[in-house]
Amino acid sequence: MNRRTFLKLIGATLGVSTAACCGLGTLATYQPKIDFVENHHQGGNKMSKRILVAYASKAGSTGEVAAFMGKTLGADGLTVDVCSLENVTDIQGYQAVVVGSAIRAGKWIPAATKFVETHQAVLSQIPTAYFTCCMTLHQDTPENQRKALSFMDSVREIVEPADMGAFAGKMDYGKISFLERFMVTKVFSTPEGDFRNWDAIQTWANNLQPKLLG
Ligand SMILES: Cc1cc2nc3c(=O)[nH]c(=O)nc-3n(C[C@H](O)[C@H](O)[C@H](O)COP(=O)(O)O)c2cc1C
Repeated sequence: MNRRTFLKLIGATLGVSTAACCGLGTLATYQPKIDFVENHHQGGNKMSKRILVAYASKAGSTGEVAAFMGKTLGADGLTVDVCSLENVTDIQGYQAVVVGSAIRAGKWIPAATKFVETHQAVLSQIPTAYFTCCMTLHQDTPENQRKALSFMDSVREIVEPADMGAFAGKMDYGKISFLERFMVTKVFSTPEGDFRNWDAIQTWANNLQPKLLG
């Protein structure tokens, strides 16, 4: 973190503390209601292989990426479940799993890391892939690619994946709390916009299929 960002962070912290002291804490952290996509692609026959795409998201856009991956993976007659990972309790019965998360403060959402920990025994026996959606990649440079892939270092230590994808995400100020908006606009100067590259996501999902199913 450079000096300028550090000073902004101090200013933001003071501003937030003042707001909290004035009783505005609840308002500042109020999270707008978000729809989290879930769907099921039924495969061509009862014997078709089952893939789970489980994701963690805060503002909903990573769920849309997961759903698009599910549609791509399901196009060849596979059965694919796309679920918010908070709703997944059992992963037995899947022949492969894709786990994805948005990035918050340089890390996967904690529930996503927990999911990999909880299901480590099963995930380490079947092909598993990871993906990340983040704003680091709104400028797609080799350095930012390396940084975005490094967000998955901690889960790689739990289960080594068959593949990893890192993609630019979406920033919608209307879907985050006032406090988060304050941080991303005043401290990190993150631009608003939808930077998802659907062609890149589709190419990754198409290349992933043989890695997951052998
Ligand atoms: C409070 C907050 C913190 C974020 N921190 C990071 C970060 O450290 N690095 C990054 O690349 N993106 C960061 N992002 C961007 C999100 O990862 C990105 O917008 C993502 O696509 C959001 O996915 P979602 O809509 O599924 O929550 C942050 C977003 C918010 C709102």
